Amino acid sequence: MSYLQTVPPHDIEAHLTEHDKKSVLRFITCGSVDDGKSTLIGRLLYDAKLIFEDQLANLGRIGGREIDLALLLDGLEAEREQRITIDVAYRYFATSKRKFVVADTPGHEEYTRNMVTGASTADLAVILIDSRQGILQQTRRHSYIASMLGIRHVVLAVNKLDLVDFRQSVFDEIAVDYMLFAKTLGFASIQPIPISARFGDNVISASKDTPWYTGPALLEYLETVQLDPLVEERPFRFPVQLAVRPNADFRGYAGQVASGRISVGDPVVVAKSGQRSSVKAIVTFDGSLAVAAEGEAVTLVLTDEVDASRGNMLAAPASRPFVADQLQAHVIWFGANPMLPGRSYILRTETDSVSATVTALKHQVNINSFAREAAKSLQMNEVGVCNISTQAPIAFDAYKDNRSTGNFILVDRATNATVGAGMIDFPLRRADNVHWQATDVNKGARAATKGQRPGVLWFTGLSGSGKSTIANALDRLLHARGKHTYVLDGDNVRHGLNRDLGFTEADRVENIRRVAEVAKLMADAGLIVLVSLISPFRDERRMARELMEEDEFIEIFVDTPLDECARRDPKGLYEKAFAGKIANFTGVSSPYERPESPELHLETVGHEPAALALKIEQFLDRRREGNEL
Ligand code: ADX
Repeated sequence: MSYLQTVPPHDIEAHLTEHDKKSVLRFITCGSVDDGKSTLIGRLLYDAKLIFEDQLANLGRIGGREIDLALLLDGLEAEREQRITIDVAYRYFATSKRKFVVADTPGHEEYTRNMVTGASTADLAVILIDSRQGILQQTRRHSYIASMLGIRHVVLAVNKLDLVDFRQSVFDEIAVDYMLFAKTLGFASIQPIPISARFGDNVISASKDTPWYTGPALLEYLETVQLDPLVEERPFRFPVQLAVRPNADFRGYAGQVASGRISVGDPVVVAKSGQRSSVKAIVTFDGSLAVAAEGEAVTLVLTDEVDASRGNMLAAPASRPFVADQLQAHVIWFGANPMLPGRSYILRTETDSVSATVTALKHQVNINSFAREAAKSLQMNEVGVCNISTQAPIAFDAYKDNRSTGNFILVDRATNATVGAGMIDFPLRRADNVHWQATDVNKGARAATKGQRPGVLWFTGLSGSGKSTIANALDRLLHARGKHTYVLDGDNVRHGLNRDLGFTEADRVENIRRVAEVAKLMADAGLIVLVSLISPFRDERRMARELMEEDEFIEIFVDTPLDECARRDPKGLYEKAFAGKIANFTGVSSPYERPESPELHLETVGHEPAALALKIEQFLDRRREGNEL
């Protein structure tokens, strides 16, 4: 902790105890790149004498009075240049009245992600504004996100006032503009303060250059702003990080208390299964406890054997979290590639991790007007309200009730990058009311009467690569052997089921999703399905694979070089595409991601379609001893 006070050694214990009693204010600073966030934090620490001497020695002196306070945060800057991951620096300091944790978040447009990370635990946001520029798009975005993330208090730091001669009219105008804009955001308080971070005006003490301002200086305000009292103790939540079983005699559940408290003897329920038990012991590294409260990392030992592995949650039986596989959430998108409904991402809550798709983008929020606007995808930094479906049920609360069990991140499956953050609004009830109907005649029975093993043969490749021709040849071979098959061809499906879809990335994702679902139904009917789709994106091919049973999905890469496809040009489309007459044409103006490990890789140049079809048939025969398929 970097607070600086000289305390006689014998008083240290007393001092620390005193210190522990102080309230903690968590805040973030946000603003555009040059608004002076780093300078402000530096000034705050420097003027309040919260900097260690050795740090001071490194600061350059420019002229007499001025010190480049941003240099204080230089180490952080250097780190930032190297890694564009999550770079939130938390700084701790304390005054005689309060302890502070400040998250310093970079202000570049694409760094919303960092702000979200810092903001999700903050009580207050210091929103910096350059007085020469007034309220910018970035100011609105940050304010909206702060409110969405549950921040209740705002300091509007109208900075660089020295550059506008400390004119009151400039400050007043910005303050009024902001109040008008923010009135729908539901902040509990907004405190505008005229400052110059560079020269320290109204940062620690009142500035003589702003005699017209009678309000508090920034530090004074931060020390005294009334935080919301904890209305009532929140229900007990314990996301399980690990089931610990070092030997047959001990079984415990390790994690951190996300909210509420738990005592030995208290009843608990396992969120996902509804199993009940009670707490036999609360174990920590330093011995056993009688009670554990929010924020504490402990291992809980229960009186009964229950099934609660990582990702599950122990909770108060009287107030259980939601468990559902469909939910509505506000999503902030960070990914360089847009968020596409239908695409599959990894959804991570504090301890759980599941495959998830956005089933509907209900609307996008216009950051300037807060209007709901129709949208087909979310671009970087955009916010939208989405319905999300997870592959398995997850345990969660609404974000408004619990910030830690009500949030999640979305991770790109290929790059492992965090591409979005979500605040859960509520579970979708309809998921509760729609149940899978088990039928008596099942897939196995249907396949058996046909004397075959169902499967989905997924042909992917460029337009004109020969997918349909080879699929057709294979279909004839299988049919001649009495197999029950069906060909789902992209061009054909687009005449009916998918006639509403075009060739944008979003439409292709939906096209592939629907075809994959139909193929799944057909496989369930016992058929061997031959799907012929360009399916240019790895993500969707993987999604299709995951939809099917293991070993049921066979990816066949029909590999024909682009210039050969263009030379064949069976439908005359390449000619048009090269002439710029077809938008988003695969291989020309839209990407094709080659399969990395298809079950079959067919190079077509120099091989007849019939020969390639035979090759697939042999593969199928080899795949199953006996003659099932
Ligand atoms: S996919 O990308 O969504 O899988 P799909 O296989 O259904 O595509 O449809 C591809 C067929 O649509 C092509 O064989 C071609 O005949 C036709 N087509 C029309 N416009 C395009 C385009 N812009 N890109 C690719 N194919 C197109």
